Amino acid sequence: MAKDQVVLQDIDGHVATLTINRPDKLNALNIETRQAVVDALADLARNDDVRVVIITGAGDKAFIAGADIKEFEGRSPIDQFRVMTDSSMFQAVADFPKPTIAAINGFCLGGGCETALACDIRIASEKAKLGQPEINLGLMPGGGGTQRLPRLVGLGAAYKLLYTGDFIRASEAYRIGLVDEVVPPEELAGRAKELAQSIAQKSPVALRLIKEAVRASARTPLDEGLSKEVTLFALAFASDDKKEGVDAFLNKRAPAFTGR
Ligand code: COA
Repeated sequence: MAKDQVVLQDIDGHVATLTINRPDKLNALNIETRQAVVDALADLARNDDVRVVIITGAGDKAFIAGADIKEFEGRSPIDQFRVMTDSSMFQAVADFPKPTIAAINGFCLGGGCETALACDIRIASEKAKLGQPEINLGLMPGGGGTQRLPRLVGLGAAYKLLYTGDFIRASEAYRIGLVDEVVPPEELAGRAKELAQSIAQKSPVALRLIKEAVRASARTPLDEGLSKEVTLFALAFASDDKKEGVDAFLNKRAPAFTGR
């Protein structure tokens, strides 16, 4: 299958949607798909018209059912190491400089859950099932599951998912903080688009700086993070978007942000 087919890209106004498109394999991530996501994100990062990205899965059964297990067969540990480090899709998602939303439309397992964890916001269909089942393969997560999951849901809930490999429903994922919203399946795409469009109306400069500050919070002590926040605030203060936002407020009109 051609590279541009394993990941579909749709741009609607300021919102891009990337759809993992291997529905007959429950959108499992093979090497080609991971690389296609990395390439698509690099293009979208450079495209100033795109302000928010949604990631979802094709079909009505799966978001992403994890790494393509078939590719594990016969692969040497060195090859596996190279696959995971040469160009990490999970890191590309996490490092993407604009807001990202995972629209979780079904099985969200292993590398699928880790893809969702690397996104900024997660919206799930009521039919979604989430989990980190690597333990059942005698394996462990390798795309951030042991690092991002406990940060999001706390140690106990993370250990439970990681040790048991059990799948949980969207309602349980919402309860533990793994997803931020749960909607009926037929409303998922529309709700993700609506949220993305509302974020896309904000200042792209401020969105980028917020993302940088929040990402720093995961790796810096509080005092360093607070100091970084002040520096980034000053940067936002210098933007045309800040002038526009303040002027629009004072003149009781809607702002039109340009990202400058
Ligand atoms: N890698 C490769 N292929 C996968 C896959 C994966 N992670 N997940 C599903 N598929 C394939 C199946 O092999 C099957 O292909 P086939 O029709 O050529 O046999 C197809 O997708 C449909 O999956 P199937 O298992 O028949 O669907 P199901 O509804 O019975 O079960 C799951 C769905 C998600 C419970 C089951 O597919 C599963 O457990 N997948 C693996 C999940 C996992 O362990 N992920 C972490 C990997 S590290």
